[in-house]
Amino acid sequence: MKSFTAPAIALSSSFFLLFFTTLVSSSSFFHPIDHYLISCGSHEPSIIDLDHRRFTGDSSTSASRFFTTPSTRTIPLTNSDPASSNSSPLYRTARAFSSPCKYSFPIQDHRGGTHHLVRLHFSPFFNSTSFDFSAVQFHVLANGFLLLRDFSIQNSPKDGIVIKEYIIRVDSDKLDITFVPKKRSNFAFVNAIEVISAPHDLVADVAQFVNSEKNERINGLLNKGFETVYRVNVGGPKVTPFNDSLWRAWVPDGEFLEKSGHEGSLEIHFSGRIQYQMGGATREVGPDNVYNSARVIKSSNNVIPKSNIAWVFPGIEGYKYLVRMHFCDIASIGPYMLYFNVYVNGNLAYEDLDLSAMTNMLLASPFYADFVVEGLNSESLNVSVGPSNMSLTNAVDAILNGVEVFKISNSLGSFDGELCVESVMKSWRRGNAGVIVPLLAAVFLLLTASVVVQRRRSGGRDTVGWLRLPVDVSEINLKYGSQQSSGKL
Ligand SMILES: *[C@@H]1O[C@H](CO)[C@@H](O)[C@H](O)[C@H]1NC(C)=O
Ligand SMILES: *[C@@H]1O[C@H](CO)[C@@H](O)[C@H](O)[C@H]1NC(C)=O
Ligand SMILES: *[C@@H]1O[C@H](CO)[C@@H](O)[C@H](O)[C@H]1NC(C)=O
Ligand SMILES: *[C@@H]1O[C@H](CO)[C@@H](O)[C@H](O)[C@H]1NC(C)=O
Repeated sequence: MKSFTAPAIALSSSFFLLFFTTLVSSSSFFHPIDHYLISCGSHEPSIIDLDHRRFTGDSSTSASRFFTTPSTRTIPLTNSDPASSNSSPLYRTARAFSSPCKYSFPIQDHRGGTHHLVRLHFSPFFNSTSFDFSAVQFHVLANGFLLLRDFSIQNSPKDGIVIKEYIIRVDSDKLDITFVPKKRSNFAFVNAIEVISAPHDLVADVAQFVNSEKNERINGLLNKGFETVYRVNVGGPKVTPFNDSLWRAWVPDGEFLEKSGHEGSLEIHFSGRIQYQMGGATREVGPDNVYNSARVIKSSNNVIPKSNIAWVFPGIEGYKYLVRMHFCDIASIGPYMLYFNVYVNGNLAYEDLDLSAMTNMLLASPFYADFVVEGLNSESLNVSVGPSNMSLTNAVDAILNGVEVFKISNSLGSFDGELCVESVMKSWRRGNAGVIVPLLAAVFLLLTASVVVQRRRSGGRDTVGWLRLPVDVSEINLKYGSQQSSGKL
């Protein structure tokens, strides 16, 4: 473990420049300029999800303009399985694609390049037998970013729902989200799409790059895209999109907490008001429900514990990652009583962090710090907080309220391998020659599936299945033929 001087100035320059005392009014809710919530494969103009948000069906008159591909080239799917009725209505419909298709969203908020949140929802309809989800394999592009490559849902989680979230920079007046089946014999599908302009303070240009040799300020992050890998509410319950200002989900930290070495750590909860301040973290950076819980180390009997609290996040490799740590001193009885160290992968990232200095001596006022790490040699990320040389006895000696881990897009604009958007489209075009046969096979498969469903229905058994299957199969083939020669989307 190496020691560095505290990079406090770099991390909190905005705090010092904008010397603040103004509290932000809690009524100033964020209203995104661009805000599209689309339920794919649905005709309904209004679908309310479990978080009370209103989605619009992509076949409804108000939303069909976003869907630029002729609908004959796509397959709207409806799951009539009664077992899915207690899940979100977003997962009862989907749209499947057997050739590249795109949704195009007009972007008002793009001057100078702004970040937008993009969420893609995928659910393989709860183990349906009527559609061969093993044929699903596809890529997803968003303007110049490759979001997903060779994506399939074979290893989807138990609840069968996969939500992918990205924060990407948009420089033009539209955001195109393109679904590209891997091969002719594959399908792409999606259940719902969210496009939301991010508040301008959500992504900062500077962060501290930390490894075993360096702890230095870097910039240029505004040009990057981010994929959310972990979003954790430390010491508190799950925070649902309903309770988050940007409709994010935060999971509890239990599964990431290192089991040994945190004997002195306590969960704490705060029922007072979180003091958001001008120039500090806003409610959009982290909501009240994240800042009002934490895990702390406390000294007892005049002894400062020697241990740290550590969280370990697996599956971190091959990219640079942005680690955002959220702090809010909801535990001290007065200012200037909490000093602690922050470590990233065992390297001292921040020495003697003094939250009072960061928040103008105000307790319960949020502060966050961004670190960039390389996920090259390690396969997991280790984040920890612990007492520092300045920690006081009979006080709180370390705190953490939340952690987010984002994958940073690589130099090709990819989140999923050494491939760029252009080569994905090229490989689709190259794979086009003489592939009518697998396409027909795929359509045949769909028709077979529908027959199976009909049989099952008439047999009075469960009604798992797609209600609407393409009736215009010959037209699909015609479109493929013409598309093949032009090679365009
Ligand atoms: C899916 O359905 C098959 C047959 O109906 C069953 O054997 C299997 O356990 C189911 N899988 C899940 C994850 O429910
Ligand atoms: C939102 O947060 C409040 C208070 O923290 C909690 O009581 C409520 O259950 C939460 N609602 C949802 C839908 O998560
Ligand atoms: C994580 O880091 C802490 C020190 O900061 C160390 O005690 C712990 O052993 C590390 N855990 C892993 C799994 O690397
Ligand atoms: C704390 O103090 C010790 C002894 O003065 C010093 O060696 C060490 O570098 C300081 N910092 C940390 C993080 O331990």
